[in-house]
Amino acid sequence: MPNGEFVVTPWQVDGVIDYDKLIKRFGTQRIDPAMRKKIVEAAGQDHFMLRRGVFFSHRDMGGIIDLHKKSKPFFVYTGRGPSGATHIGHLVPWIFAKWLQDRFGVNVYFQLTDDEKFFSKKGLSLDDTMGLARENALDFVALGFDPAKTKIVIDTQDIARLYPIAAQIAKRINFSNTKAVFGFGGETNIGMIFYTAIQSAMCYIEDAPVLIPLGVDQDPHFRLTRDVAPLLKKPKPALIHNMMMPPLHGGGGKMSSSESNSAIFTTDSPGDVKRKINKHAFSGGRPDIDEHRRLGGNPDIDIAYQYLRMFFEPDDAKLEEIRADYASGRMLTGELKAILIERVNEYLAAHQEARERARDHLDEYGLGP
Ligand code: TRP
Repeated sequence: MPNGEFVVTPWQVDGVIDYDKLIKRFGTQRIDPAMRKKIVEAAGQDHFMLRRGVFFSHRDMGGIIDLHKKSKPFFVYTGRGPSGATHIGHLVPWIFAKWLQDRFGVNVYFQLTDDEKFFSKKGLSLDDTMGLARENALDFVALGFDPAKTKIVIDTQDIARLYPIAAQIAKRINFSNTKAVFGFGGETNIGMIFYTAIQSAMCYIEDAPVLIPLGVDQDPHFRLTRDVAPLLKKPKPALIHNMMMPPLHGGGGKMSSSESNSAIFTTDSPGDVKRKINKHAFSGGRPDIDEHRRLGGNPDIDIAYQYLRMFFEPDDAKLEEIRADYASGRMLTGELKAILIERVNEYLAAHQEARERARDHLDEYGLGP
């Protein structure tokens, strides 16, 4: 990508994302302090990902909070395209969905789009993506969703429930609309062209308005859903967008399953985590120790610091201490990385245990054998 340029679509994220520009380009609303206050008050609790702007943008979030204040129901929906192992970037909207369930007592639906990844990825068979869907489901269940209020949907398994809704949606989206939104061309397979109707169908799986926490790259699908909603006499889905987790190497794009050194996977061993962070995490430190001690590091571009801020250090006081020490030069890059490695391995040890336990509980979330 030429300097300053970036692309964000459901199938490609490239370049260093300028989130202010992206808000304008997509036509979403920034989560300003007033909106944050509104969410936090309704939830009765703050969330560090909200406070630190990891969730930075929305569509119609205010409407959802107003519904809640009038004791009217809404539900939450998010999903995953099973194209490989789950990495920590995938967990961000799921963690937020769990928080929404805890704070608002809402039902949560999780869609695994094995059809989509079969359509969009050259190297994957349908058997591959169907298998990966079940593996990815373990990471979702490991986060502790209430089985009585949570349902996992796998497209190829649950299509009978989705198809009547998808058909209603598909009839109202024409080829020019999808082409304009996704940039499809004559060589695009027709599975891809229809697919957006399947992802949209989940918005109407319950007869109540939906709120979708999602990586901002998924916004284009729901722009189409929002356009057709009035034609179906249905509410427009409300969205709350998170920033993409940057890749370990800190260059543009996002953490990606298909680039194993860009990502920390939920199944990585402590040794993997240590090696990847020490070897690949882009540092905002100075080239030599003397200079670093004198001028300090730059936490804004330092990936280890950014992962602590976005995910692994929810405690503001601790994070601020790390930032100040690093920026002043008291803390060296190796020391900062050591903190991240410890926090990631603590997190993953607990997650991996919960993930293994989840194998025996998938049926409670509606998955067949
Ligand atoms: N298309 C998404 C992906 O590739 C998966 C997905 C389906 C999704 N429904 C969603 C993501 C709703 C966010 C919200 O990962």
